[in-house]
Amino acid sequence: MRNPAVSASPNATQKKLFIVAGARPNFMKIAPILRELRRGAYPFAAKLVHTGQHYDKAMSDVFFEELEIPRPDYHLEVGSGSHAEQTARIMTRFEAICLRDRPDLVLVVGDVNSTLACSIVAKKLHIGVAHVEAGLRSGDRAMPEEINRLVTDAISDWFFVTEQSGLEHLLAEGQPRDRIHFVGHVMIDNLFHQVEKLAALPPAALGTTPLKQRFPEYGVITLHRPSNVDDPQVFSGIMAALAEVSQGLPLIFPVHPRTRGNLDKFGIAIPDSVVLTEPLAYMDFLNLFKDARLVLTDSGGLQEETTALGVPCLTLRENTERPVTVDEGTNTVVGVDPARIVAEATAILAGRGKQGCRPQFWDGRASGRILEALAVAV
Ligand code: UD1
Repeated sequence: MRNPAVSASPNATQKKLFIVAGARPNFMKIAPILRELRRGAYPFAAKLVHTGQHYDKAMSDVFFEELEIPRPDYHLEVGSGSHAEQTARIMTRFEAICLRDRPDLVLVVGDVNSTLACSIVAKKLHIGVAHVEAGLRSGDRAMPEEINRLVTDAISDWFFVTEQSGLEHLLAEGQPRDRIHFVGHVMIDNLFHQVEKLAALPPAALGTTPLKQRFPEYGVITLHRPSNVDDPQVFSGIMAALAEVSQGLPLIFPVHPRTRGNLDKFGIAIPDSVVLTEPLAYMDFLNLFKDARLVLTDSGGLQEETTALGVPCLTLRENTERPVTVDEGTNTVVGVDPARIVAEATAILAGRGKQGCRPQFWDGRASGRILEALAVAV
């Protein structure tokens, strides 16, 4: 793992900032913020806290290496567990380092358990909380992430939103307008940075190049939502639909650990036209999905990354907390009805997919806007 220090002792004009990451989708969001901080243009002495919510090399370390994220100043090593167990472990361990190091400000990203746990701890210690990717709402309180979003936003002090809907939800929930900043999306900052790096790499340097050579045209699947992969009937129905789609277009499926466990447990049959891989590193995955004819996913981030790159996306959920990807981007929310999945995929392959355009402020400069706003606010 690389080890350039992020942290520095604060001088008299600097504030101590803790940046929190815990799970895979957090890493691409903190990377551009840390990169922007390294320019030295902001009055913060930052420390990186990795809660260890994700811990496998393929779910964590490879992202630190590829996304140029420095070694964390604190690693809380909480690991997996039930929601209560995991959240409690993060809270206990994060409280200890906050008490020891007394940050002036805690920055959390996204909607995972680490986001929720660290914002509660900070707020109860009277430390300011900045939430990046605030205000998103699926309206579905059966989703653990929706609870994490609602609670984090209820207690945050500064809100950085990626799309207009985020601003509207926060205002409707009574948050003050002057604390809400519509800045665009740090994950898109990261995406553009990595696209540039990818263009400079020889194809042979990427592990997914042989798959692209084998399949000149292909689609990509990702699935990991408990509502899709923890219920045998729902998961089997989705996989039957994807098997049918794969008759017309081979599908490549990097499998999340939760999903892998359930594929084995439920004994779901996978045809040869659906190619399973291990979870992929960021560049390998980008190399794959940027040229896909179609992406089928239940990920939040991938709905946005496909919109930013103009790749057609079918979201296998009943709702999305990222409506701009549907209203302006290439995303269609299709649910999990097998017949609908097949019909929508067929339409895209017949050339009837959405064109889409890039949403406002998704221009690679969100991290700078966030740090400028915080520098004035704190
Ligand atoms: C978590 C986030 C979800 C995010 C997803 C991305 C919450 C509530 N959920 O869900 O929002 O979209 O990460 O991946 O925060 N496991 C491993 N290795 C790891 C991590 C997990 O094998 O490094 C296995 C464990 O068996 C674990 C299971 O995967 O029990 C699920 O992991 P967990 O972090 O609980 O939830 P995710 O489904 O990954």
